[in-house]
Amino acid sequence: MKVVIFGASGLIGDGMLQESLNAVDVDEVITVGRAALDKSHPKLRSVVHNDFLDFTPIVPDLDGVDACFWALGVSSVGVKPQEYELITVDYTAAAARTLVSVNPELTFVFVSGAGTDGTGHGRRRWARVKGRAENMIIATFRHGYGLRPGFIRPAHHMQPRTPGSRWITRVGIVVAPVLRLLGLAPAVIVTTVELGQAALHLARNGYSRRVLENREIVELASAAPLR
Ligand SMILES: NC(=O)c1ccc[n+]([C@@H]2O[C@H](COP(=O)([O-])OP(=O)(O)OC[C@H]3O[C@@H](n4cnc5c(N)ncnc54)[C@H](OP(=O)(O)O)[C@@H]3O)[C@@H](O)[C@H]2O)c1
Repeated sequence: MKVVIFGASGLIGDGMLQESLNAVDVDEVITVGRAALDKSHPKLRSVVHNDFLDFTPIVPDLDGVDACFWALGVSSVGVKPQEYELITVDYTAAAARTLVSVNPELTFVFVSGAGTDGTGHGRRRWARVKGRAENMIIATFRHGYGLRPGFIRPAHHMQPRTPGSRWITRVGIVVAPVLRLLGLAPAVIVTTVELGQAALHLARNGYSRRVLENREIVELASAAPLR
């Protein structure tokens, strides 16, 4: 399997990258980012690309791709609405346009977040914007999925790159012991390893639902790793 990862320099993308590199059925991992990834691995090729509204120049790199894991994104905290929409919807749509032309049967896993609003009618703007991007992926790809993690428990000593995501992750670390005590952890906490495993599971086997909440991500990650 050939996997392309957007956002691999970030917390969640790094988890997806590590799990993909470790997977025996993944032969090649392409990462696309605005700077070269500071990692090397025999299966890994890091592509530097700067125009996130036009991915046609990297079509040759995407040849034969089976799955795309999209962990590129920002929290809306401290980001201007227009920029948030550009990064969340327009960047994702540009990649989707290119990828669907390369392989319409590709599995596209879009990381949105808990609270994402797919109805378009909710009160929170950030949630409607994430929901628009998620809906677009599901409409574009027969094998398109939205992952809605809650609090992320970082593995591999990674921290989110953007301040908003760092803030949310810190809140998660503080409230995690209480949530565990109350038995609520599977519903709201997920590790970066579990996110990577869940994305791989979707690429291998698909799933009966197109949108996965935190609990389903945790469950899917613990299912048999290989088909
Ligand atoms: N962390 C959480 O608690 C959490 C929870 C639920 C959902 N999420 C969502 O999951 C996604 C990833 O979160 P994360 O915590 O992994 O974030 P992160 O560590 O801040 O990483 C964000 C990634 O997106 C890329 N990126 C951000 N802005 C960009 C831009 N303008 N142009 C190109 N690339 C850009 C970054 O690339 P550079 O290295 O080039 O900056 C990085 O690879 C986000 O959409 C976030 O909203 C996060």
